[in-house]
Amino acid sequence: MKLIEVERLEAFYGDMQALFGVSLGLAEKECLALVGANGAGKSTLLRCLVGLNQRVRGAIRFDGKDIVGIAAEKIARSGIAMVPEGRMLFAELTVEENLTMGMLTKRTGNWTLPRVYELFPILAERRKQMAITLSGGQQQMVAIGRGLLSNPRVMLCDEISLGLAPVVVGQIYDSFRIIRAEGMSLVVVEQDINRALSVSDRLICLLKGQVTLEARSADVDMTRLTAAYFGE
Ligand SMILES: Nc1ncnc2c1ncn2[C@@H]1O[C@H](COP(=O)(O)OP(=O)(O)OP(=O)(O)O)[C@@H](O)[C@H]1O
Ligand SMILES: [Mg+2]
Repeated sequence: MKLIEVERLEAFYGDMQALFGVSLGLAEKECLALVGANGAGKSTLLRCLVGLNQRVRGAIRFDGKDIVGIAAEKIARSGIAMVPEGRMLFAELTVEENLTMGMLTKRTGNWTLPRVYELFPILAERRKQMAITLSGGQQQMVAIGRGLLSNPRVMLCDEISLGLAPVVVGQIYDSFRIIRAEGMSLVVVEQDINRALSVSDRLICLLKGQVTLEARSADVDMTRLTAAYFGE
């Protein structure tokens, strides 16, 4: 059984349909990269998985249980965490206060505050500073740390490298090796195709709300991926 199974998912914003029958699976400990052009529906899909988009049809099963219509807080407590696009930190709270927000799920596991500080030592130095005073890369580390502190079984990361310097992006993706070693499953939305391929086991491309390619990352054919990404 897959940890997450999505079947014929359709999502709507008012009358506007954003997803058209998306089906996919995520295995335990797997890292899935999700790619696609602007507006393809990547963020919408992630939002559906964490219960932030209630206007859906189809099925989403997490650990065998259908979670469509379940409140976002309950889904978070059951073990799916989101690192949202734009990070969504509380600007006027400290680094540590933002991090501890993740603990509101009351899930226990390997991820503790000291372990997050070990993963991102700069955050330990800045723990008393307001989040707004951090660089973009450091803020992204806080958003990831907050996700880890909810000790999820699956973490969904939406465009975590957007607007960051290459060296910082490298540091953040290096941390994924340690995160994966703890047995967490990941879904990573990433603009940089090579980065997406190198971090993941499997890749799914969305175009206009539909899956246009699904392949093992090691086997992806760039010509087919380009066609799947842009359409014919
Ligand atoms: N809050 C919203 N209200 C109305 N339409 C929305 C909303 N959010 C997204 N959409 C629309 O849904 C479709 C999918 O958008 P989504 O943000 O999921 O795409 P994306 O693949 O994440 O794109 P990007 O790469 O720009 O982040 C787009 O047509 C978008 O305009
Ligand atoms: Mg998006």
